[in-house]
Amino acid sequence: MNELARSHSNGRCASLSTAPPDAILGLTEAFLADTNPEKMNLSVGVYKNASGQTPILDCVKEAERRLVEEEKTKGYLPIDGLGEYRDRIADLVFAGSIERDRLAIMQTPGGTGALRVAAAFLVGQLSPIRIWIPTPTWANHAAVFDSEGLPTESYRYLSADKKSFAFDGMIEDLQKNSKPGDAVLLHACCHNPTGVDPTSEQWEQIATFMSEKRLLPLIDFAYQGFGKGLEEDAVGVRAVMRHCPEAIVCNSFSKNFGLYSERVGGLSLVAVDASEAKAAQSHLKRVVRSNYSNPPRHGAAIVATIVGDSSLTSLWHTELAGMRDRIRSLRRKFVETMARTGSGHDFSFLLDQHGMFSFSGLNKMQVDQLKNEHSIYIVGSGRINVAGMSEDRMDFLCQAVAKVIES
Ligand code: LMR
Repeated sequence: MNELARSHSNGRCASLSTAPPDAILGLTEAFLADTNPEKMNLSVGVYKNASGQTPILDCVKEAERRLVEEEKTKGYLPIDGLGEYRDRIADLVFAGSIERDRLAIMQTPGGTGALRVAAAFLVGQLSPIRIWIPTPTWANHAAVFDSEGLPTESYRYLSADKKSFAFDGMIEDLQKNSKPGDAVLLHACCHNPTGVDPTSEQWEQIATFMSEKRLLPLIDFAYQGFGKGLEEDAVGVRAVMRHCPEAIVCNSFSKNFGLYSERVGGLSLVAVDASEAKAAQSHLKRVVRSNYSNPPRHGAAIVATIVGDSSLTSLWHTELAGMRDRIRSLRRKFVETMARTGSGHDFSFLLDQHGMFSFSGLNKMQVDQLKNEHSIYIVGSGRINVAGMSEDRMDFLCQAVAKVIES
């Protein structure tokens, strides 16, 4: 009998051992407890403006103003969420590339909620099934799938020098080891944690391969608009829609609408036809009902209001482009400033990466040193949140990175 079971049988839970902190959000907890006034949090993927704030977009403020005036009820949403919002997911994620009636769309609490509902659905309806996840991947993917009892396997994603996409390695691993009916996790764009994405030609080949081998794509789409643009970042989703008869897309609006704390996401199951989509929707609803029952309204209503109004949509496009361009310029500035430190380490490969994150190549020891000696927090894999950098503290950051590299 383990310690917990023993104490529980005595009617107490006093001897629980402490669980380890979360690989990403645990760092923010440590950051908040750090008393160094110079501290810098580049761990969690959150956009910050030049004054270090995570701003509320103007389009969001205006949508909220309208909602406060016009909203009539706080009654429950349906299990699958706000209908208008689900249609807007279809518009933004699929843009007419698939018939609406082939999509079973659920509003979910963020992208993480979507992944968890997807995992429960796969285990409940398609077992035995396992999911292939890239190495490396978002630090929470395996935990989300494990929590639903969905077995995970790994495929190569990054080349040995950690600078480019291991396209051949990925296909070789899946060709050799996966079985028809397995699911494969793909990052649609701005791969987390590396920022290294397939080209559109490679997407075409990945989608063809998946369809020929009858693998089920599960696409994590958390950064639409943060890479090259809303439509450009959907190139992988479009390729999968062209070649694969079925897929699941888990999307998040945390980043592109700056709605992190409102938990706004969606799960779209692409079925072979309308009746399959309807059946899938009924099972997805059962998963949700026994979990969080139905999703929260506010964030979804904001997105539906913005995307349902052309002037708010164009304001959103401008604000999104502003965040994207600023992240790009911070990335460039980091590379240039690193070059001036004289560390002798060339970071120009970061310029080929997309989205919020840079995979710096720093090892665990260097990451720890950054934290312990400089109060700079980045994720253990060496992932740096570029979107959290600031122009005026770039020298401080780069000097610290140069020091840990030299030592
Ligand atoms: C991240 O990777 O930092 C974000 O997706 C936030 C999170 O929940 O981990």
